[in-house]
Amino acid sequence: MHQRLSAHRVRLRRRLFALIATGTALTLASGCVATGTDRPAGPSPTADHSIVQDNLDSVLSHLRSYAIDDSEFEPHLTAHLFGIPGVSSLSAATEARVLEAIETAGGFGDRLAYSPVLTDPAQRWPSESFASTSASGVGSATPSTTDSPEDDRARLQISSQVLAAGGNHLISTLVLNSTVHVLVTDLAADTTVGVEDLFDPEIDPVAVGVDESGALTLKGSPVAETDLTPLGVTVARSLQSRVDLPDGADDRNPDFSCALLPCVALTYDDGPGEPEVEDSLLDAAAEANIRLTYFLLGTNAADFPETVERVAGQGHEIANHTHTHPKLDRSTPATVRSQVQQADEAIEAAGAQRPGLLRPPYGALNGAAAKAAKRPAILWDVDTEDWRHKDPQKIVGSVVTDAEPGSIVLMHSIHPSTVEAAPAVFAAVAEKGLYAVTVSELFAGIELTAGAQYFCRGYGNRLCSNPEHPAVRRS
Ligand code: NI
Repeated sequence: MHQRLSAHRVRLRRRLFALIATGTALTLASGCVATGTDRPAGPSPTADHSIVQDNLDSVLSHLRSYAIDDSEFEPHLTAHLFGIPGVSSLSAATEARVLEAIETAGGFGDRLAYSPVLTDPAQRWPSESFASTSASGVGSATPSTTDSPEDDRARLQISSQVLAAGGNHLISTLVLNSTVHVLVTDLAADTTVGVEDLFDPEIDPVAVGVDESGALTLKGSPVAETDLTPLGVTVARSLQSRVDLPDGADDRNPDFSCALLPCVALTYDDGPGEPEVEDSLLDAAAEANIRLTYFLLGTNAADFPETVERVAGQGHEIANHTHTHPKLDRSTPATVRSQVQQADEAIEAAGAQRPGLLRPPYGALNGAAAKAAKRPAILWDVDTEDWRHKDPQKIVGSVVTDAEPGSIVLMHSIHPSTVEAAPAVFAAVAEKGLYAVTVSELFAGIELTAGAQYFCRGYGNRLCSNPEHPAVRRS
């Protein structure tokens, strides 16, 4: 048995080698090395260094860590990515390149899209692992195959890391096996471009680095401003000042979309119920830092307009569950239209936006009713049957057992037992590695069409919607 080092440990050791290899004037604290700590000693503390290090620390403390370990496909995919709330351009640029690399490597199989997989949250890198010293350094710093017992398997290894930050700019690397992208993000404008845009001459992104004083380097040598574009000059100067990260961004959504991450939509029907019960659910969602989707009845919205306003005010998605909960497949088209319209009006009268989505009561919908309803019908693939057994433990058990990437979970906020289960449901989802999002976020990137039915996203079962099969239609 060979000794196995943790990925993080290997990475930090390699980073230390990279630092030494670049020949930077490091003052290694001998005690640090002798005691065998796996944290490399930093350069001696100078005024410049403290800004550079403070900026890096600031970014590291704001970033969120994501891991994907997909052993189903050849090659075995492992990805470690970071995102920063409020910096969506970086996440979007990263996600597009990652999905392209997965597709090129055959990770889609015979499908048109990636099928997100559950990954144990314990595999997410600690934030300090996203620090890098150079674009070339980060390439060698990704955890090596020696970490895996399946050394002989082809692998697609992906990682993003922070190279430097200052002022309104962040430079990061994205390594896709041997391909390195270096991205420059304007944190104020939330735009992301390739590092090539900073240089007048054509350059190899891998050669770009930042030295301990925060100066841009090419192959280890400082870059003259005359070799930089106007954007390059701005960014180079930015790196010498304190980084200004977006403040107050809504960090309830994951930084990447459900095309890449395993998401689940937690939905609550038939409300609003008693205000104190609904408030408990809102408190639990706030505590878990997630957003829910409510399919409200028009009559209940009219009875409890303040609750509707609170739900909407806290950013949860509000959708239509008809006015009085009839079976739409046994209703005339005129009744369907009026049921949907009356619920819309009650929800709007309470101060919420007009809903864009409909959930037919009992999931009962036929072609004629779907046509009359004139909006996408959102069904579910995980039925907790909470209304029947009213047992919080069974609700949690159902989510633990049945929720998978792309699932829509059906619950009812009018039952105290369901609301009692909510904190444990939210924790179970997170522990499983699923990201809780609203229904609209779950389907982002797949166009929802009126009259069609949606049960889940992805390839979990034959009813799930995906690029090959965007919706279910019944005639
Ligand atoms: Ni219902």
